[in-house]
Amino acid sequence: MTRAHALECDRSDPLAAFRDRFELGDGDRIYLDGNSLGRLSHTARQALQATVDEWGTQLVAGWHDWVDLAGRVGDELGAAALGAGPGQVLACDSTTVNLYKLAGAVLAVRPGAVVVPSDDFPTDRYVLEGLAATHGRELRMLESDPVAGPDPAAVAAAADGAALVVLSHVNYRSGALADMAAITRAVQAAGALVLWDLCHSAGAVEVALDAAGADLAVGCTYKYLNAGPGSPAFLYVAERHQAMLRSPIQGWFSQADQFEMGPRYQPVAGIGRFLAGTPPVLGLAAVRAGAAMLDEAGIAGVRQKAAALTGLAVDLCDQRLEGLGFTLGTPRDPDARGAHVSLRHPDAWRVCRALIEHAHVVPDFRRPDSIRLGLPPLYTRFVDVWDAVDRLVALVAEGVHERMPVEAARVT
Ligand SMILES: Cc1ncc(COP(=O)(O)O)c(C=O)c1O
Repeated sequence: MTRAHALECDRSDPLAAFRDRFELGDGDRIYLDGNSLGRLSHTARQALQATVDEWGTQLVAGWHDWVDLAGRVGDELGAAALGAGPGQVLACDSTTVNLYKLAGAVLAVRPGAVVVPSDDFPTDRYVLEGLAATHGRELRMLESDPVAGPDPAAVAAAADGAALVVLSHVNYRSGALADMAAITRAVQAAGALVLWDLCHSAGAVEVALDAAGADLAVGCTYKYLNAGPGSPAFLYVAERHQAMLRSPIQGWFSQADQFEMGPRYQPVAGIGRFLAGTPPVLGLAAVRAGAAMLDEAGIAGVRQKAAALTGLAVDLCDQRLEGLGFTLGTPRDPDARGAHVSLRHPDAWRVCRALIEHAHVVPDFRRPDSIRLGLPPLYTRFVDVWDAVDRLVALVAEGVHERMPVEAARVT
């Protein structure tokens, strides 16, 4: 595994040209944190500017076009990234709020416990803890292997007698990719619904919500869809469930006769009933740009490149990092992981800080011991992976991290 090999992979990469569509200006910095916040694309910048211009010129008349944008952008996202047919996806609110809306809607009409992995992303566990308390339900914490993620048989056993199971499709720490179709079938056979968190999947791996028979899903657009900090998230409700579910947030954008301003709430039929308030029009412009670029690149090719990039990181970890206290915190099977790789190290926090401050490599740290290397395929080069690991090897071999202060910043 040589640098020349990595350069050769870049030369034969069919997606290589997409990198030029992003604002780089990094100097020698290697950005490997697109799994936290994706890069700014030229088209996102233009789309945001165009929407600002619409605001400036059209003022309130702009609402003729903006009023149903959440559904239109949802359909575009559904087609480009989620394997979802029209009328089932909205681009709106945050992942946290969408999770609250959908899980709350399920608990209002179905008896039984709520199940979530004990190592799932905190916001998911916290939202469900609150909802379980409100609805007087048991919250079942599912224990799972920290690298491999939840085992389908264990999920099915926990789902017995439950109303809802919430799972991440790609685990935020390890990058483990769950078998959506098999787990969905198993949960449904146990009598529960399943809600997938797609934050680390959308734009990174193929997602086939309709084909998998999925019930519900939520996810964000600021990672692999490059829609910017705080960009609107999305939610998916399979058409067959829409009539029986009602959002616990009875906002006016889901009202059947919205502009009648009538006395009583009556939700609109269809996916629009999961809207809450005024859509974030500026953010939606960037989501639309992200979906369009993904559609052009094609998720199958993106997935293939993600497998190759993460494969290079895994090989380099084996070849160069093992003797330096690192272990791989990500599944070895490319079909069983998303687009980031976790390296575990007992001093991971200081290694991460040293990488950022002294080696100009930007990964991130996740407790207790993981350094995540995010490798979004639209702009990450194979040589970036090679150079980042090379700098990591030099830094740890020289003990640079041991001179870093042991302290936790609020944001890594
Ligand atoms: C798996 C997962 N779920 C949920 C969230 C949080 O979503 P938000 O803060 O956008 O509501 C994140 C954020 O990184 C995440 O990784």
